[in-house]
Amino acid sequence: MGTLFRLDSSIRIEGSVTRAVADTLQVAVVEEIPAVEVVRRDIGTAPIAASHWGAAAYAGGTVEDERTTAQSEALAVAAELADELVAADVLIFAVPMYNFGVSQHFKTWFDLVSTDPRFAPGAGTLEQRPAFLVTARGGGYGPGTPRAGWDHATDWMRRMLEDLWGLDLDVIETELTLAEVTPAMAELRELAQHQLAESHEAARRGARSVTLHLRGSSEPYGQGSLAS
Ligand SMILES: Cc1cc2nc3c(=O)[nH]c(=O)nc-3n(C[C@H](O)[C@H](O)[C@H](O)COP(=O)(O)O)c2cc1C
Repeated sequence: MGTLFRLDSSIRIEGSVTRAVADTLQVAVVEEIPAVEVVRRDIGTAPIAASHWGAAAYAGGTVEDERTTAQSEALAVAAELADELVAADVLIFAVPMYNFGVSQHFKTWFDLVSTDPRFAPGAGTLEQRPAFLVTARGGGYGPGTPRAGWDHATDWMRRMLEDLWGLDLDVIETELTLAEVTPAMAELRELAQHQLAESHEAARRGARSVTLHLRGSSEPYGQGSLAS
């Protein structure tokens, strides 16, 4: 009964907040709908080759029998990644912030998918498909904090997934994930724990919406489970 696609991109397994929150969401959906098919791709542990994008970007305008092997291979990988998205009823993207920006693995994946004609601007292939962006940041970026304005990841991902691809996107954000291991952030630990608990709760709420959606309920999808 339906397909859930999940993309992970954290470069760590142990202690990963994005993986843990995405787990909560996935497990809750599977508990409710055991027959749901879960398709996973992990670009954190098995990144997409960055060279594919350059090859695929120009391959589209090259006649098929004049394409290089690299171009044909890149287009095939792009199509495989795009197939995974198109086949999904619900999508989860678990993507951390790195170096104040978007994960390079996610950007590489996104760029390659975008070379597939089904993901050209305006194609609308995933229009209104329910999706979750589960993101985490080590620091805090709220208004008035020293790093306010330094989060160059979340807005970009939101623009791409929500505005460009047209997904019905719910964003679950967790900040201060480094507080637990950073002595200078010790006084923020309680706040960090609270935020993390809220994100897991938002994931559980999201799972309930997903369940309704997969069961074909006419109830509106997503009730704004933004955790921060
Ligand atoms: C190489 C690297 C760079 C990072 N850069 C930033 C950063 O610029 N700002 C920030 O707030 N956190 C940064 N972090 C912290 C991560 O965003 C944070 O640990 C997050 O929880 C990672 O996601 P994960 O828990 O799913 O692995 C960085 C972590 C790593 C490993």
